Amino acid sequence: MTSSLYKPLEIGGVRIGGNLFAAPLAGYTDRAFRTVCVDNGADLCYTEMVSCEALVRGSEKTGELLMQADAEEVYAVQVFSGTADSAGRAVAMVAEHKPLLIDLNCGCPVPKIIKSGAGSDLMRDPDRVYDIVRAMKDNTDIPVTVKIRTGWDANSLNYLEVADSAVKAGAAAVTMHARTKKQAYGGVADWSHLKILKQELGDLPVLGSGDLFTAQDVRSMLEETGIDGVMLARGVIGNPFLFREAKHYLTTGELLDPPTPLEKMQTAFRQLELAVHYKDERTAVNEMKKQLCAYTKGLPGSSEARNRMVHSENFATYKEIFREYLESFS
Ligand SMILES: Cc1cc2nc3c(=O)[nH]c(=O)nc-3n(C[C@H](O)[C@H](O)[C@H](O)COP(=O)(O)O)c2cc1C
Repeated sequence: MTSSLYKPLEIGGVRIGGNLFAAPLAGYTDRAFRTVCVDNGADLCYTEMVSCEALVRGSEKTGELLMQADAEEVYAVQVFSGTADSAGRAVAMVAEHKPLLIDLNCGCPVPKIIKSGAGSDLMRDPDRVYDIVRAMKDNTDIPVTVKIRTGWDANSLNYLEVADSAVKAGAAAVTMHARTKKQAYGGVADWSHLKILKQELGDLPVLGSGDLFTAQDVRSMLEETGIDGVMLARGVIGNPFLFREAKHYLTTGELLDPPTPLEKMQTAFRQLELAVHYKDERTAVNEMKKQLCAYTKGLPGSSEARNRMVHSENFATYKEIFREYLESFS
């Protein structure tokens, strides 16, 4: 019964080997993080959200966010925009990188993003969602998808209307984070809305997001809602192993043993090495701090290592801390 829950997907005529995706996570899903997700079985990973305005302005730093990791056979790019004009122009630039899909962010709750008319501001304006998706479609043959929330707040649960606008404009799939903008990341995601959305959209692929922290969560969401696939988000920060755990559980019904402390540390170190490979050392080390803390949380004797890492500024020091900490396991 469980095996059919893990399956290939077809989105806009493009086939994807499985239905366990890594969600876009601003500040996290760079090439290094996506690589360790792929290593552990992610079927498709999304970039961090990329500003269409900044792309059109020619921002080099923003352009880097579009790059595919060496280990990725396929990947997806997520963009955000408040206007059809910048979305249309930016998408043509995104398309040069040949992502499998291009996703429009309609869920970011950050005030600065909302002020620009992007992210979850779009939940208040389904017509603008239509215009933006249309402009994207007009400028690329790559399938365009959208990632929405359930609404702005509990009094305006308009996801069916927003999804309908996006689909009418040509969106090939809809992902929904089953929270309102007002909830941000708090409270509990209400998966019942995913079931309603899937019933409404019929054959169009629907992906679910919200409170997926264990393999059992993944199975429950797929079973309870009938959606086609899931996006793992906070559950894979410092824990990309959740991909293989979920895949194993969906296909065999058995739970894998959790990763050993040694494997966790080795994976954390691999991600750090990759980050230093892809970025300048200082940026890589600084950006990795929060993720390294996530990897080591709860590991025996890790608090001292974490303390030292937080105060370290270069790769060589990190290497030394990892070496000493790993020795404590042998
Ligand atoms: C730190 C952080 C950054 C995020 N960045 C993005 C983003 O760039 N684009 C997006 O669509 N969603 C973003 N999200 C939302 C996640 O993709 C996901 O939908 C949400 O966290 C719910 O899933 P979870 O409860 O399993 O974490 C972000 C969430 C967090 C916590």
